[in-house]
Amino acid sequence: MSALAVKTGALNLGQGFPDSDGPIEVSNAAIEAIRSGVNQYSPGPGHPDLRHAIAEHQERFWNVSFDPDSEVLVTAGATEALAASLLALCELGDEVVVFDPTYDSYAAGISMAGARIRGVLLSPDPETGRFGFDPDELRRAFNPKTRLILVNTPHNPTGKVFTDEELTLIAELCVEHDVLAITDEVYEHLVFDDGTHRLLCTYPGMTERTLTVSSGGKTFSFTGWKIGWVCGPAPIVAAVRTAKQFLTFVNGAPFQPAIATGLRLGDDYFTNFVAEMQAKRELLTGALDGLTTDGHPWDIYSPEGTYFLTVDVHTDGIDFCMALPETAGVVAVPSAVFYQDRRDGASLVRFCFAKHDTMLTDASARLADAFG
Ligand SMILES: Cc1ncc(COP(=O)(O)O)c(C=O)c1O
Repeated sequence: MSALAVKTGALNLGQGFPDSDGPIEVSNAAIEAIRSGVNQYSPGPGHPDLRHAIAEHQERFWNVSFDPDSEVLVTAGATEALAASLLALCELGDEVVVFDPTYDSYAAGISMAGARIRGVLLSPDPETGRFGFDPDELRRAFNPKTRLILVNTPHNPTGKVFTDEELTLIAELCVEHDVLAITDEVYEHLVFDDGTHRLLCTYPGMTERTLTVSSGGKTFSFTGWKIGWVCGPAPIVAAVRTAKQFLTFVNGAPFQPAIATGLRLGDDYFTNFVAEMQAKRELLTGALDGLTTDGHPWDIYSPEGTYFLTVDVHTDGIDFCMALPETAGVVAVPSAVFYQDRRDGASLVRFCFAKHDTMLTDASARLADAFG
């Protein structure tokens, strides 16, 4: 969709990346690292300063402790952390439970590991404006072949933030069926309305069976640096490191100390970041309210977290998005592509609002012209 935006000159609210750079202290730290010679392979588990910064961050924000030497591994973005974890932990024929729709690397990672994906549907509820799942469907997804559950909170593409009750059920099922968990928390600092980001690893029986994955891309608006990490019990992290060793071995040496600088920024940075994104969410939600397709009003799912807003446009989302550059001069992503079965979410469309206000205002005006 980004290629389509470039080709057509449409405003790109498609792919999930911000249109401005992150904090200057962080980019200066990367420049400084390059100038001071941090340019060769970093140690396999990651730059020690970054591993310490990650452990400090987990303690400071989420009150969980990890040993930076044995329980933290730096990866090439969250994507490699997920892929290496799946390769390390799954055997042929194992099943991995996911909440459907998923970020697109999940199905690929699970299949490259020789495992099978087992989706539990997240459905939009126009009454509550939230996405939810049927607890019985989740219970039924657990069976003797289940090896892992992969939980993404806050969730892309739906913007759902998993509740205490939902995570409690997930934890109970993992313990009951002796299943491991991987959590993808790349949007951990984007939870709106003073909501709470909860870590599955803090639930009873989960510390010893959870790998917590995140990265600096979304939090610091440097998605191209691809510095991620995984935290968890030492033996499981060692297994992930073994798989990772033969994927990238290491990456992004000078960006590692820079992300350490980011993780140590003052609280102001993190509170301003989420406040700014929340204001952008309000801007776009307000602008799309009242738009229609063939007289049918759009249902807007204002996210609880992430920087994505989902709209039910009540028509085929793929056709809608393919035509959108021409009809409105805007690019968005059809949510169907994130579902295992594209018929689910067929009329949902995802807009990314991590963009300058001027761009959001222009895009809103164009959408209002086309669908107002
Ligand atoms: C849910 C989710 N996980 C992982 C990633 C990728 O993270 P990284 O760029 O750190 O690999 C993304 C990026 O869009 C995402 O939305």
